[in-house]
Amino acid sequence: MILETMKLMSRDLRLDRALSLGVLALVLWSVRRARALDNGLAVTPTMGWLHWERFLCNVDCQEEPDSCISEQLFMQMADLMVSDGWKDAGYEYLCIDDCWMAPKRDSKGRLQADPKRFPGGIRRLANYVHSKGLKLGLYGDVGNHTCAGFPGSFGYYDIDAKTFADWGVDLLKFDGCYCDSLKHLADGYKYMSLALNRTGRSIVYSCEWPLYMMPFQKPNYTEIRQYCNHWRNFGDIFDSWQSVKSILEWTSSNQENIVDVAGPGGWNDPDMLVIGNFGLSWDQQVTQMALWAIMAAPLLMSNDLRHISPQAKALLQDKDVIVINQDPLGKQGYRLRKEDNFEVWERPLSGLAWAVAMVNLQEIGGPRSHSISIASLGRGVACNPACLITQLLPVKRELGFYDWTSILKTRVNPTGTVLFRLEETSQTIFKKLPLQDADTL
Ligand code: GLA
Repeated sequence: MILETMKLMSRDLRLDRALSLGVLALVLWSVRRARALDNGLAVTPTMGWLHWERFLCNVDCQEEPDSCISEQLFMQMADLMVSDGWKDAGYEYLCIDDCWMAPKRDSKGRLQADPKRFPGGIRRLANYVHSKGLKLGLYGDVGNHTCAGFPGSFGYYDIDAKTFADWGVDLLKFDGCYCDSLKHLADGYKYMSLALNRTGRSIVYSCEWPLYMMPFQKPNYTEIRQYCNHWRNFGDIFDSWQSVKSILEWTSSNQENIVDVAGPGGWNDPDMLVIGNFGLSWDQQVTQMALWAIMAAPLLMSNDLRHISPQAKALLQDKDVIVINQDPLGKQGYRLRKEDNFEVWERPLSGLAWAVAMVNLQEIGGPRSHSISIASLGRGVACNPACLITQLLPVKRELGFYDWTSILKTRVNPTGTVLFRLEETSQTIFKKLPLQDADTL
């Protein structure tokens, strides 16, 4: 009897200690977060559509009128964003990437849209997009040319910021090609941020500053966060598993440097969602959606909304996963462990909830089981003393109550992910529940 009581006491003590240490860690962690660009924007990660990965620099409207970079393409996407539920799901910014410009500035030094492909100019397109209740994103470059060779903004930052604001642009993706020195790169990104602010228009500022800086110098993320609403760290995404995998690997290998800096107003940007295209299997699309939610990544789809499968559409519009991505606490998740070609990622959410993702990186064989002790999740506080677990992906299933001593076991397809949400329960009575398995197949 005494032994039993002692066992119980020591377990309660362990629980209490884990709980208070966990809460303390969370508090310290919040305090460490750096100051964000104070334009009041991107309080949660930006959601929208961006043309680059799917449509690249196709300027041949004679041969390919339906897929060239033209006002028609963006008007069609705007219509579909509203009619097909994308806007209601949260996708708000319709963004133009490179190759919208005419090859030369106008006589007053202003950028101009290609007159054949954008006959109404960007202003008319912005009006159209706004009339649909959406916002318009545009692309520029800090250096002498854009990556595709159109006019860059170097030497024209004020004039370009003013032009974008006059046209009614709501987001600027500012690339870093053809910049001749690290000093010009840093000064240019900072200058443009201030120039956009001076216009008085609310313009989300999407940077690629760390990506271009990284080969030469370690980025100062505290500083980058003060100027940018999101920032690309890694090379361009392709429509392939290899590409998605390399982005995840880079992110987890660098998580010590990049996770804590993310938060309301400033986010790491692992690049576009390529779900709904050609290169990813269903399981790989699930992995991208789940992990972009865990990483608090901007959700900028690059796909053809005119031709998208119902399955990809449902995944991209999955409310529960979007809720995780958009969680107001605004903390980026991280890889908790990697073992036997399984990765476990987790992200703290508001209301003491947690998101957990189990990824099976083995590319041979069939579905594999993986078990994780509940106590090891969420810095020991995710499910302490008990929680309700819902599997969200690949399909939604309520798994029921788990306690701190139980094991979460699941089966995951090769290159797939199972995404869970763990909710604190108001249960104060510690009820010992049997070990539970979550068979996902
Ligand atoms: C760079 C960027 C891409 C895209 C292209 C456009 O490669 O990283 O996202 O904007 O330029 O040329």
